Amino acid sequence: MTAGQFLSHCSADALRQAAQQLKAGALVAFPTETVYGLGADATNPDSVARIYAVKNRPADHPLIVHVSDLSDLAEWADDIPEFAIALAREYWPGPMTLILKRSSLAQNFITGGQNSVGIRIPNHPIALALLEEFKKIGGKGVAAPSANRFGHVSPTTSDAVAEELNEFLATGDLILDGGASQVGVESTIIDCTGEAPRILRPGAITEAMIMSTTQSVVTQEGEKIRVSGSLENHYAPAAQVLLNIEPHSGDGFIALSSIATPAGVTRLAAPKSNEEFAQVLYEALRSADHKNLARVVVHEPTGEDIAVAIRDRLKRASQSR
Ligand code: TXA
Ligand code: MG
Repeated sequence: MTAGQFLSHCSADALRQAAQQLKAGALVAFPTETVYGLGADATNPDSVARIYAVKNRPADHPLIVHVSDLSDLAEWADDIPEFAIALAREYWPGPMTLILKRSSLAQNFITGGQNSVGIRIPNHPIALALLEEFKKIGGKGVAAPSANRFGHVSPTTSDAVAEELNEFLATGDLILDGGASQVGVESTIIDCTGEAPRILRPGAITEAMIMSTTQSVVTQEGEKIRVSGSLENHYAPAAQVLLNIEPHSGDGFIALSSIATPAGVTRLAAPKSNEEFAQVLYEALRSADHKNLARVVVHEPTGEDIAVAIRDRLKRASQSR
């Protein structure tokens, strides 16, 4: 293990140092409330290229630009519709990404050549402090995908980031520790380039919440947009993920705590609510690999809350082979 220096005490000094490293072109992995991100200066093509190399991600998959304040939005996006402003006011900082018409600042190396750009204000004190320090020294925004190798489970702890990326990071890159992510699944992505909001990836901000804020029906229509998280094989551990079947002896098992553990099965998580299910899911999938389990059986939660996002990710994880 060489590479990224690990900063577990995010003092004001450490965050200033991390912002300077970003400005100098280094990569900084940082906590957010959804999952950990791998950050780079969103205006620096060489740094952004390193994100793709470290993640082994195809170069045409667009990145989300993270900013700290609503007033930063106009720098990155043009012609922002009223309904998008309403969503931003209601749910930022928070687990929501808005896809908007890009400004000239959002270049092809961020947008994957599309005319839109993804923007998010994360709700995590360390992420917000890092973004603010970065802005103080002239930074415009931090491009950050989830801090995992392409196709893998997203990290929700700094240890998981190190496990995923340490061997690919360079001297000067940093991993900031901010505890376990509270939401645990990636942000809701909402396309705001059409007449009405359209959910591209479900998350903690639900369809019902979007409808109540925008007074509009969430469409399923529109041209096809490239979303790497919507590829079939994604969010997958090495273990085979099987949904809603009776586990065999020797399998890993993830289900709500109200469901008993069958004999001979390794219980990986027993969350008490759908929110807790989302919080612990990715660490539970990782632990299946740490225990060298061949199979992990998951009983999916029901409901139209964050369970929609959980079922979306599990479907992809289970389709990975
Ligand atoms: O919660 C999150 O969103 C985390 C944290 C770190 O903020 N980030 C994250 O990034 O999940 P990533 O790159 O792993 O997933 C972002 C998704 C990708 O599937 C990408 O294709 C999509 O957002 N995306 C980004 N910009 C887009 C755009 N202009 N149009 C359509 N999709 C876009
Ligand atoms: Mg990702």
